Amino acid sequence: MHFHILTLFPEMVLNGLGTSITGRAMANNLLSVEAVNIRDYANNKHNRVDDYPYGGGAGMLMQAEPVYGAYRAVEDSIQERTGKEGRTRVVYLSPQGGTFSQSMAEEFAKEEDLILLCGHYEGIDERVLEEIVTDYVSIGDYVLTGGELPAMVIVDAVSRLIPGVLHNDTSAEFESFQDNLLEYPHYTRPEIWHDKQVPPILLSGHHANVEKWRREQSLKRTLERRPDLIETAILSKEDEKYLKKLKKGLHESE
Ligand code: ADE
Repeated sequence: MHFHILTLFPEMVLNGLGTSITGRAMANNLLSVEAVNIRDYANNKHNRVDDYPYGGGAGMLMQAEPVYGAYRAVEDSIQERTGKEGRTRVVYLSPQGGTFSQSMAEEFAKEEDLILLCGHYEGIDERVLEEIVTDYVSIGDYVLTGGELPAMVIVDAVSRLIPGVLHNDTSAEFESFQDNLLEYPHYTRPEIWHDKQVPPILLSGHHANVEKWRREQSLKRTLERRPDLIETAILSKEDEKYLKKLKKGLHESE
């Protein structure tokens, strides 16, 4: 998969994503990350890309033309490479977007190319957004100084769904949010640490009991920490029964 990040700070995204698992995946040609400097498309001799907002108000805005120029260059090179005419998906990172989720990551992972547009200052001239953006995405209800960290979050979450990026084939599907539940707790050596014993069932070697215990821990953890997820979780009859028991226990201890 090919990620194309339109940004004023290419070194920020390349340094971040060039490290650790995404960096290894890039080295192994499982994905590519191209950072396009929007400033390279400034249409004035001072390389300015920002200007004052019409109508007044605080702060500066990124101008339409440099953003469009950077987009056009990327879109043209994608079309040249693939020979396809269709438009590439362009994600604008903004607190005004829909909240990024695992299901969005799964959807983006189906694309061959993804363009991520990072804003700065007070935002970007609306006209270019209207023309090029296909998806408005936020990473949460807080305001950051720019779209670079959110773009890196998206590249990271999507990358780990690409076959071969994680060495362990099953880990991407079996982690948090399987069936929309949180993951069960994990333990490794030593068996006793700070007087805390690893749950004995995990040492029993009884696979079915371990699986049952893990499922129950997932349900318990989700109910305690993210009860909102239970509404949309995929639950078996057994799960429902266990949740009922847990909820009864909660009421009794009130
Ligand atoms: N840009 C600034 N804040 C943001 C957020 N929370 N999500 C996505 N892009 C942003």
